[in-house]
This record gives sequence, C-alpha cells and structure tokens, in this order.
Amino acid sequence: MRRVGRPPGKKRAATRGKAWAGRMEEATDPLVDAFTTSFPVDRRLYAHDIEGSIAHCRMLAKQKIITGAERDRIVAGLEAIRREFERGSFAALPSDEDIHMAIERRLIERVGSVGGKLHTARSRNDQVALDLRLYLRDAIDAMCASITALQDALASLARRHEDAIMPGYTHLQAAQPVLFAHHLLAYVEMLERDADRLRDCRTRTNVLPLGAGALAGTTFPIDRAYVAELLGFDAVSQNSLDTVSDRDAALEFLAAGSILAMHLSRLAEEIVLWASQHFGFIELPDAFATGSSMMPQKKNPDVAELVRGKTGRVYGSLVALLTTMKGLPLAYNRDMQEDKAPLFDAVDTLATSLAVMTAMVPRLGVRADRMRAAADAGYTLATELADYLATRGVPFRDAHAVVGAIVRRAIAEGRPLASFDLGELRRFSPAFDADVAEWLTPEAAVARRSATGGTAPANVRRRLKSRESAVGSRTAKARAAKAAAKRKRK
Ligand code: ARG
Repeated sequence: MRRVGRPPGKKRAATRGKAWAGRMEEATDPLVDAFTTSFPVDRRLYAHDIEGSIAHCRMLAKQKIITGAERDRIVAGLEAIRREFERGSFAALPSDEDIHMAIERRLIERVGSVGGKLHTARSRNDQVALDLRLYLRDAIDAMCASITALQDALASLARRHEDAIMPGYTHLQAAQPVLFAHHLLAYVEMLERDADRLRDCRTRTNVLPLGAGALAGTTFPIDRAYVAELLGFDAVSQNSLDTVSDRDAALEFLAAGSILAMHLSRLAEEIVLWASQHFGFIELPDAFATGSSMMPQKKNPDVAELVRGKTGRVYGSLVALLTTMKGLPLAYNRDMQEDKAPLFDAVDTLATSLAVMTAMVPRLGVRADRMRAAADAGYTLATELADYLATRGVPFRDAHAVVGAIVRRAIAEGRPLASFDLGELRRFSPAFDADVAEWLTPEAAVARRSATGGTAPANVRRRLKSRESAVGSRTAKARAAKAAAKRKRK
C-alpha cells in the first residue's frame, strides 16, 4: 500500500524550506507540494514581485521599522535575484510554494537572516494582490497599444481602398451598398471602445492593496501612501478584507478582453467569408494562409479561423475565474491562486491574436471589382427607389409597397432595377420622374447617406482624417515624452 504522508511526530527536519514549518510536526507530502505549488505559473510575476518588495522595503526603512543598512542589503539582494531571473539562472526548489516564497527563500540565502525582515508588516495575501495589480497595469497598457496598432492597420487599408463599394448585409443578405472603408472603420470603432473599457478597468486596478496584511491590516506604523507613490498607484485601498479577497480587477480585464476577443472573432469571420470563392472580396497573402495536405487547390484562412476559435479560450478564462470566486467567504482563500493561469492565458491569447491580425490586415488583397459586382447584384438599390418616391411626397410605407412590386417583377423576369425605363416605372407609380435614373447607382446610394455616421465618402474621409490627426498627435506626444525623459536622465 502506498502511504501518503508520514506518521505523526516524525521528521520535523523534513519541513525545512517552508516558511511556516514552525507550526508543523511533519513534512508535507510530495504530492501536496506538487498539488499546491503555483511557482510554475506565477514565476511570471517575478519582476512585479521584486518591484513591490523593493517599494515595501524602502517604506519600512523610511518608517524606521528596519534600518537604512538593512534596507540596502535587502534591496541589493532583490536586484541580484531579478538578474538571476533575467539570465534564466534562478534555481527553484520543490519546496518553493510560489514566486513569493521562492524569492524570499533566495533572498535569505543571498543576504542572510536580514532577508527575513522584508516580510515585516506584510502578508502573501496583500503581496499577491499587489503583484497581480502591477502585472495587470502593464498588461492593459500593452494591450491598448496592440489595439491601436490593429486600428491603424484597418484604417490604412481603408485609406488605400477609399472608393471601393461593397454590399452591406443584414441577415447576411445583400442589403444596401456601403463603402468597404466604412465597413473596416466599423471595427476601428469597436476596438476603440475595447481600449476604453481596458483604460477604465485600469483606473480601478490602479489602487494599492499592500498594507492590508493577511486580512485585518497591520500593527506596524506603515506608510501606505508612500508605497503607492513609489509604485505609481493613484489611491490606497480602504478595506483590508476586501483588498485581499477581491479579484475584480482581473475579472474586469477578462470581461473587457472577452468583448475584445468577440470583436476580433467577428472580423476574423468576415475575413473567412470574404476569402471564400463565393464572395471573393479578398485574396489572402500566401504568408498568412495554409494549404491542404490532400486537396491541392486549397488556400485556407487558418489564421482568421484560429483567431475566431481562440475566442473560446478567452471566454473560458472569464467563466473560470468567475466560477472560482463565486462561493468564497471573506477573506483570502487558496482557491484564488487559480486566478493566474486563466488570466495569463487570456493575455497571451489576445496578444497573439491582435499581433497576427495586425500583420495580416494590411496585406489583404482587395478585389474591389468583385465587391462592386456583388453590390450591383441582389437589388441592393431597392431602398433608393423607395426613398426617391418618399422625397416626392409618397408616404414611405406606400413607396415601400410600390417598390416591392417592382422588385417582384424584376426577379420574375431576371432583370436588374436599372433596366426599368421611366414609362415602365410610371406604371407602378406616377411619382417617378426622369431624374430617378440618377438614384440607381451604388455610388449615388452611398453618397446620399451623408447624415452623421452614414457611409457617404465625405463622412468616411472625415473619420479617417480625424483618426489620422489623433495618431499624429499621439506620435508627437510620445516623441515629446521620450525627449523629456532623455533630458531628465541627463
Ligand atoms: N500563491 C498564492 C496565490 O497565488 C499566494 C498567496 C498565498 N497565501 C496563503 N496564505 N497561502 O494566491
């Protein structure tokens, strides 16, 4: 029989390496070590953990909880450990429960027992909450930059094909002509709201948790505002129980990320459709397509399909963390350690999806002729005829019925609307006049939709321009900030 664990009262020495070993008689079972460790996942937080620890340590010295000399030794040790991670030379031990314990264990190895003072007035519970927020802040900033890059790619493709007209769809049935650029800019708008949601989430993320202790706060005379200042937090959390037990920031990120993934998936779906022989609106660049191992003629949109498919993983991360959190009593519970794997997976999935779409979009071959032919077919100008009658005083409801009859005839006879001459149209309604012909082109249909938000070329150009000037001022601002930072360093 396999024995799990040791008989009571044996081998205290075997608990060595555990910060909490003092309480235990018996070493943890290796199965338990393997089951409970989060190090393989949360080692990714090493830089944030060290950044947070350095700030905490400086505060301890400022508050005279440790001495300046102790601070210097601890900070130097932490910086050396950071270099070990960067070089890939950090050696983890099986007894390292998580990134926090691994770094503390190594710190004591490097600087001696003074390293044990770092954890004064701190718990892993507020420490992990801090690391998560530091990580999320960076993840949000990087994701917003990636979103902007995809927006730029879409806008530049729109700019290059400003005049291309395609059928717009409802129910995936050809509905009315629209500019291809207008269609692309729809995604630019969606992505802008995605970035807004992330920025909004960042404001709530940017609150300092450190100082909440294990759950009740701390007895030491700490200065939380100082730590917040060192780490660039805008505020300090106000309830220690809430602070160590909420994971809202990660959830909000995952919710915003799920909406972003959904938008990317819709764009991917359109690329799949447009690249099919039946639409033929775009030609995929070879570098972003795959072939079939069996059918020699195939060129498949796997990149777009995978962007669409990976959406499930991002939603899965959101649902996983919501489910982990839903039944937890206050305050910290070990369940919450399960937050990181789904969060990291969602961050990675979104980052790669955004990157591959950003690289592919500018390289899409646009078949404006095929789009235009599709816009001509399918009676997409029927609404023009009804609008025409309405501008001549026919109530729109009646105009709709008149044009319905015309379309029915056209379909029965297999003719386009433009083939109806004035005499024929007049038999349907006396309100038709010679100028009706001017209404029956996709160009005219598009140009007439000039109310704000409509597909008229003037609107689309204005939107592109305002985006380009925003991009221009963004680059100018970034350049100025860079120059200022350089001056400061001198
Ligand atoms: N690895 C833990 C987590 O990610 C860190 C906090 C552990 N706290 C504790 N009391 N066991 O949640």
